Amino acid sequence: MRIVPGILARSAKEFSRQAKCVAWASKVHVDVMDGKFVRQKTSQGKISTSVQFHLMVRDAQKYLRGKEIIVHAESKSPLVILKNAKTKGLRAGIAFNPETSVIRELINAADFALVMTVNPGRSGQKMLRNALKKIKLIKKLKRISVGVDGGINFSTILAAKKAGADFVVATSAVTLAKDPRKAFKELKKLCR
Ligand code: DX5
Ligand code: ZN
Repeated sequence: MRIVPGILARSAKEFSRQAKCVAWASKVHVDVMDGKFVRQKTSQGKISTSVQFHLMVRDAQKYLRGKEIIVHAESKSPLVILKNAKTKGLRAGIAFNPETSVIRELINAADFALVMTVNPGRSGQKMLRNALKKIKLIKKLKRISVGVDGGINFSTILAAKKAGADFVVATSAVTLAKDPRKAFKELKKLCR
């Protein structure tokens, strides 16, 4: 199971600080919030790592850039966005909020999926473990990679692994840790 460090930044300065903390990672998950889909707003900046943009925005069409994006099932026309992203050559994932059921036609159109185990908006929330059962449901529909986002730490990461996750996002447990690289390695060790 892969661990992808997350960046959730409220200012450009904060973004570059967090980006530096995880510059060693092979891929980074960048949270993008527009203040409409969720109350919070984020800032972006330059980053040298390969990025997965998690679009917590009402209209994701304006945010289709980079190599990999994740669009929310609860946002505007997710099916159209997935198709448009793929036409642009992006790898496109579909995210489901904890309360949202898995939607077959969105899974069919997506390259991978993200199961949210917190309600989007903030890092450092408690994992809603009940949502983990969606991983198996998704995999029954299509053999795709499924990630888990929200509340991943030393006491929850194994539950995500046991539930069948292919990757997990970790913001407070890795990027915001005192020693991010060490935290990453220790989490990785725990999963072996
Ligand atoms: C939640 C974001 C998550 C968040 C995870 O709105 O989508 O990616 O950064 O933070 P932790 O790992 O601290 O729960
Ligand atoms: Zn995220």
